[in-house]
Amino acid sequence: MSRSGGSAAERRGRVLSGIQPTGELHIGNYLGAVRNWVRLQDEYECFYPIVDYHAIASPFEPRELRKLTEDMVVSLVAAGLDPDKCHIFIQSEVPEHTELAWVLTSLAPLGQLQRMTQFKDKTAGGGESVNAGLLMYPVLQSADILLYKADRVPVGEDQSQHLELARMLARRFNNAFGETFPEPQVLLTETPRMLGLDGQSKMSKTKGNHIGILDPPEKIRERMATAFTDPQRKRREDPGRPEVCNVFTWHGYFSDSATISRVERQCRSAEIGCYEDKMLMADVLIETFAPMRERAAELRSDPNQVAAILDAGREAAQEVARETMREVREAIGLWQTLNRPVTA
Ligand code: TRP
Repeated sequence: MSRSGGSAAERRGRVLSGIQPTGELHIGNYLGAVRNWVRLQDEYECFYPIVDYHAIASPFEPRELRKLTEDMVVSLVAAGLDPDKCHIFIQSEVPEHTELAWVLTSLAPLGQLQRMTQFKDKTAGGGESVNAGLLMYPVLQSADILLYKADRVPVGEDQSQHLELARMLARRFNNAFGETFPEPQVLLTETPRMLGLDGQSKMSKTKGNHIGILDPPEKIRERMATAFTDPQRKRREDPGRPEVCNVFTWHGYFSDSATISRVERQCRSAEIGCYEDKMLMADVLIETFAPMRERAAELRSDPNQVAAILDAGREAAQEVARETMREVREAIGLWQTLNRPVTA
């Protein structure tokens, strides 16, 4: 019970998840993460930082970063994150993230950081050119979570190891300095990883196998035309095998059940060809994301709206972050002339 606050928000639980500023969301981001974030905002107090400090641990272009960040904000709001229900903010605008990260760095075992799968993948063969930011990446991520005393963290399977570290750092801190942080639980997203247009690897912008949620209809049709289908179906009159077709899997994600069973039947009987099927899929995507394209256009026509959303998000985040850092400083015995607690 020593944890601060018994407010309604805290009793209903706190959710935090971060996303890198990669520009406009693609449909894989939406399906795998953001759609779930939208659902959570009614049930929990949600903090959704755009983690630009994480982004700079990998090569980046300063002039691009700002644009990628703005496009991410626009996408998130267009996708249904409601600034009246959740806190959307820029990580670097709340300096307590890096402040707490430093404190946690001193509790984090070097060996465990070096053994992180993502670290090993990203630095394979890097040698001298590997920067320490990549090593500390999961510590900063832990700080993001613990700063808000989040008890639930919706992430994909690939982040479980990082979450384990956050949990361990919470325990270590609590054991060493007194009960301060709840151990955050992973909320694993049930959606399977969505493959890209190539039908081979996870959808990602770097692979270029994606469709953006804000892509205009012509672009969606153009991109869908390049999608990989059943590799054995060479001619239009060959019967197709939906069970091995990535586009059919996409129908499963986005189309209604009538469409799914019709496509399955007509593909098997070669009543429709792959191209027709892909254009059907394109139409479904165009329709599904139409309201988001509209909302995004509206936001873009009024930059003040975006600024106001981020101001509100930052202020709400800052308030919690400042209080947690005050507790942390107190707990670990840092000098507190500036932030001393208000005495009665
Ligand atoms: N590492 C996460 C990713 O690449 C992003 C992230 C940063 C995050 N901080 C976080 C996710 C805190 C959950 C909680 O997807």
